[in-house]
Amino acid sequence: MFHGKKLMVASALIALMIIGMAATRPADEKPHHKNLKVLPKDISHEDLDKVMDNWKAALGVKCNFCHAPSADSTSHHLDFASDAKPEKDIARHMFKMTGKINKKYFNFNKDDKGNMVPTVTCMTCHRGNPHPEEK
Ligand code: HEC
Ligand code: HEC
Repeated sequence: MFHGKKLMVASALIALMIIGMAATRPADEKPHHKNLKVLPKDISHEDLDKVMDNWKAALGVKCNFCHAPSADSTSHHLDFASDAKPEKDIARHMFKMTGKINKKYFNFNKDDKGNMVPTVTCMTCHRGNPHPEEK
């Protein structure tokens, strides 16, 4: 009788440990983008998609304007983590510049929670054109 109780406590503890281990697993499945240098490393897939769609529209280009094709030539996919295309690094540079312009010159524009509103965006200059200086 006494022995049985002990066994029950022990198996309950083991069960808890297993549950605990299982519960920590989803944390490992956080989005793991390989090569983010300017965007938050833990950005969700959804938010990253929004940023990419936004840049694509602002410049009036397709994803392959910045992203190089996959090294495997039989694949028609892009290698999103690759930095082979210089446009990708220019875009990082532009992103940092845009952030600085907002912080330095438009820091008075805040929403009702006091968060800074990005006044200048890629669209402000590009307006659907990769080379805004040309017209
Ligand atoms: C104007 C250039 C530009 C365009 C257009 C663009 N991207 Fe990106 N993309 C970037 C840059 C720059 C990064 C890296 C950001 C960083 O370093 O934080 C990136 C990162 C990514 C990543 C993360 C890759 C990794 O694992 O590190 C994915 C996925 C991605 N882009 C998908 C897309 C898709 C899909 C499109 C088209 C809808 C697109 N991008 C259009 C510039 C661009
Ligand atoms: C203050 C104006 C301004 C803002 C804001 C701006 N850009 Fe630009 N961008 C330019 C100009 C001007 C050029 C052309 C520079 C040149 O050709 O020397 C350019 C060039 C680029 C290029 C290179 C195009 C090519 O064919 O080589 C990329 C990529 C780019 N911008 C992405 C972005 C992204 C992404 C954002 C927003 C995060 C952004 N830019 C915000 C003005 C701006």
